[in-house]
Amino acid sequence: MIRKCLFPAAGYGTRFLPATKAVPKEMLPILTKPLLQYAVEEAMSAGISNMAIVTGRGKRAIEDHFDNSIELESQLRGSKNEHYLTEIKNVIEHASFTYVRQSQMLGLGHAILTGEPLIGNEPFGVILADDFCISKEDSVLGQLIKVYDEYKCSIIAIEEVPINEVRSYGIVTGTLVDGSEDLYHVSDLIEKPSAEDAPSNLAIIGRYILTPDIFEILKDLKPGKNGEIQITDALIAQAKKGNVIAYKFKAKRFDCGSIEGFVEATNYLAELNGFSS
Ligand code: UTP
Repeated sequence: MIRKCLFPAAGYGTRFLPATKAVPKEMLPILTKPLLQYAVEEAMSAGISNMAIVTGRGKRAIEDHFDNSIELESQLRGSKNEHYLTEIKNVIEHASFTYVRQSQMLGLGHAILTGEPLIGNEPFGVILADDFCISKEDSVLGQLIKVYDEYKCSIIAIEEVPINEVRSYGIVTGTLVDGSEDLYHVSDLIEKPSAEDAPSNLAIIGRYILTPDIFEILKDLKPGKNGEIQITDALIAQAKKGNVIAYKFKAKRFDCGSIEGFVEATNYLAELNGFSS
């Protein structure tokens, strides 16, 4: 059973400067809701109530967001504006939040390792809030949990991307599971390859179920691509033992770590909610 979800949220958000100088990238809103709240709600919809967030310097707004605000609540109580707090109150009431600080931003793998004291020795979900996913039925994390329940190994969400974009992603080598159209046994992975070196166009996106042996693997890793501790390198060690399944998820994904993706997601939700002109 997957009880906990880890949210690495310590990155600098350089591509959104100056907005991210004092505001965490994960707190940037699509319409009125921060990216990280969408991510937490996705975990809740997958049956998880224990949220573990990796923060860093300048990220205190995250802890304040997922806490009661007595003054604001008493101000709005009984007024016509009280409903604006309904969704976040629901999150605070039904989920618990723990935090750990990553003191040096040494990469996603390092951020996940920093979360070990919050997770312990059990399989767990990981959501990168800047990969914003909208699905009609099961959330992407919910879909991954169903696959985990069957295979009991690490599960990674993948999507086909245009070949000229593979250099922005971890890319998977694998073979289709017998009789399946969307599940792959992963034999190898490569972080941000050139189009020429890419073994496929199957890109890893920001949703994972990881088994806890990943922590020991991460502890032994040397910095990889861009001098960072890469989660992709840790997954290679699991894949070599046949312990990684990749799943082509069913949802619409927006790369909200890029300006284009962020604008696209905003326009999409604006139209969906009747705000577009
Ligand atoms: P990104 O590389 O997309 O985020 O990391 P970033 O570094 O904040 O963005 P840019 O490139 O500077 O614009 C993916 C996720 O991993 C987290 C980020 O917060 C983001 O959610 N991360 C990354 C960490 O928590 N720690 C790190 O050391 C690196």
